Amino acid sequence: MSGAAVIPKAELHIHIEGTLEAEMVFDMASRNRVSLPFADVEDLRARYAFSDLGSFLELYYSCMAVLRREEDFADLANAYLARASSEGVRHAEIFFDPQAHMARGVPLGVVVDGLSAALGASASRYGMSSGLIACFLRDLGPQAAMDTFDQLLAHSSPIIGIGLDSAEVGYPPAMFTDVYARARAVGLHCVAHAGEEGPPEYVRQALDVLHVERIDHGVRSLEDPALVARLVDDQIPLTVCPLSNVRLKVVGRMEDHPIAGMLDAGIAVTVNSDDPAYFGGYVGENYSAVADGVGFDGESLRKLARNSFDAAFIDHSLRQRYVDELDGAVG
Ligand code: ADE
Ligand code: ZN
Repeated sequence: MSGAAVIPKAELHIHIEGTLEAEMVFDMASRNRVSLPFADVEDLRARYAFSDLGSFLELYYSCMAVLRREEDFADLANAYLARASSEGVRHAEIFFDPQAHMARGVPLGVVVDGLSAALGASASRYGMSSGLIACFLRDLGPQAAMDTFDQLLAHSSPIIGIGLDSAEVGYPPAMFTDVYARARAVGLHCVAHAGEEGPPEYVRQALDVLHVERIDHGVRSLEDPALVARLVDDQIPLTVCPLSNVRLKVVGRMEDHPIAGMLDAGIAVTVNSDDPAYFGGYVGENYSAVADGVGFDGESLRKLARNSFDAAFIDHSLRQRYVDELDGAVG
């Protein structure tokens, strides 16, 4: 991995279930006696040729069947933290999909306790700060999101915020107005996937109606110049995931990714990995891929890293510590 890939950075768009590597799927299936519809690791990996978000989500939800016990969630998170820290990540805000596990009969407490056990030790084990963001599956609708939110609160889940993910088109952000209002009222941070496959209008709704602080993906915002101007004026961070965008055919090839234009336009772009086990690389590989694919120089990569710390939900002194480290890093 090149030096560019390991500069100090924050990762702000990572689905912990998307770090479930094929080998882990088989190890956990055997320890939990879950039967899988794949012959072996090679057979599973051969299915990583996606045509769009929907074709990915089908496999993503099916592999999750192996996650059953607290230690599965803790092992998954620990493996991610170890890998992320080796790629220069100093701070990670980690999504999880509570509904995808509860629907399989895994209690919310098992999920949250397993993940938070790993994250609780991230500073001492990996020198990383971290936080959990619970995402609602938009295709399950607003009432299911509200019920899940109630359960998160009842469990006193140590989450720093909420997000919105899964199938986008047909599920506009405004459907989730009430649950976002409640989350804001209890002081949680708010983010949402928008403008990945959905139109710029979904990005506007996420800002105007859900009052999100960051947009996850947001690449389709570029189709609307007035929206771009607003993202720039208000410095709304976008958590862009370049390898994901190529694998899910949001953009054709890495060489065609609009990230350079976004950065040049003054959008607060960050680079992240989304579901690295499925998309061919963790955050370091995403930095390398944009460096090689769109020809970013060291200055642009440092700007991306700087943006990641600026967009993180951390306090001023921690941000300053990370920025100082970035400023002092060579390369
Ligand atoms: N869940 C996991 N990865 C996702 C993505 N890229 N978009 C929407 N939902 C997701
Ligand atoms: Zn995502």
